[in-house]
Amino acid sequence: MRMVDLIEKKRDNQELTKEEINFIISGYTNKDIPDYQVSALLMAIYFNGMTNDESTALTMAMLNSGDTIDLSKVEGIKVDKHSTGGVGDKTTLVLGPLVASAGVKVAKLSGRGLGHTGGTLDKLESIPGLSINIEIEDFIKQVNDLGIAVAGQTANLCPADKLLYALRDVTATVPSIPLIASSIMSKKLASGSDVIVLDVKIGDGAFMKTIEEARELSKVMVGIGTSVGKRVVAFITDMGQPLGFAVGNKLEVIEAIETLQGNGPEDLTELCNEIGAYMVYLGGRTATLEEAKTLIKEQITSNKASEKQHKLIEMQGGKLPDLDGFVQVKEVVEVVSGTAGYIEDIDALAIGVAAMKLGAGRETKDQDVDPDVGVVLNKKVGDFVKEDEALAYVYNNKEDIESILEEISDAFVITEKPVEKKSIIFEIITEKDL
Ligand code: URA
Repeated sequence: MRMVDLIEKKRDNQELTKEEINFIISGYTNKDIPDYQVSALLMAIYFNGMTNDESTALTMAMLNSGDTIDLSKVEGIKVDKHSTGGVGDKTTLVLGPLVASAGVKVAKLSGRGLGHTGGTLDKLESIPGLSINIEIEDFIKQVNDLGIAVAGQTANLCPADKLLYALRDVTATVPSIPLIASSIMSKKLASGSDVIVLDVKIGDGAFMKTIEEARELSKVMVGIGTSVGKRVVAFITDMGQPLGFAVGNKLEVIEAIETLQGNGPEDLTELCNEIGAYMVYLGGRTATLEEAKTLIKEQITSNKASEKQHKLIEMQGGKLPDLDGFVQVKEVVEVVSGTAGYIEDIDALAIGVAAMKLGAGRETKDQDVDPDVGVVLNKKVGDFVKEDEALAYVYNNKEDIESILEEISDAFVITEKPVEKKSIIFEIITEKDL
């Protein structure tokens, strides 16, 4: 086989076979095929797309390029969830313990934040003592004993995806639905769970900007998972404004703890209850989805979910923070509204970038984050704000943040007419929709 012939084939919009895709991925991982040829192929895929068979073959080739996690020693059905990333997205910290407390095993490998989106690992590591570096045997033991473990991805999980992602980043080929779908699904399938619930976000703070794109990505991912025998459901959800109020590592940990105590923001609570119910139902814990919804709500009212979250923190070496003194910053600055009116929009991307500039996130992979800083919204879309009332509170440790404060203020669009609050969930795609 010659790489040039395969590039030509894809350029002419013909379907690549599984063997050809395996040849490309193993050749690229072994450094037998150079970047420039793979770059050309990626651009051909960007323009011509891939069939479902091709996307599945690419996913499996990337999965087989490295280690896979064998969860067969964990009893019962294992469930996982993945979010395509957003601003203020602390769902794993809420959902994981919520679902585990309902009796379904959660084995979760998470990532770090990059750019305007945060990462679960940075949030967890903001809790003093907590470690996400768990050996696989301990990870499996913890999932069996506690029902949940959250760890960092091992270095050798899907190495082909790491190489391809870096190349896509510099060849303008990141926003390709089959490439995004196979990148996400290769890592999820390598992590070994039986059930995968995907949270595909739409909006200015997300990868997908429209419902049509999100629907297509969801269908491709559900199709890939189903074709290899997994139960996969995709939620399409709103990232038109930050999720919840808090953006920033410790600030989000506090919000996640409060949410499981029954005092969470409406949107985060709705999202976690709905996704949680699907995870519990597909995890085989209840006979119907309705029963799963009831069971999830009971986990909060009975305090069981909150207890599970505290145990998770302790078991991974963390000390449950005293929420009052947890965040230590030089100053908390109020961003106030210049006019009275209803909040029509809060630019999630702008808030995410502002939080990153404060130090809550990283612009490049190797930067450290400041766990204490960030933004807490005081108003969400649909709320009324009075003149001079706070729109947001900025937790800051830096000098001279005037331009950041301005960006946060500009992120709010205020109108005279009342604005309706929408559900955060737009659609749910299951294998029946394929
Ligand atoms: N997340 C991933 O893991 N891969 C992509 O290609 C896009 C988002």
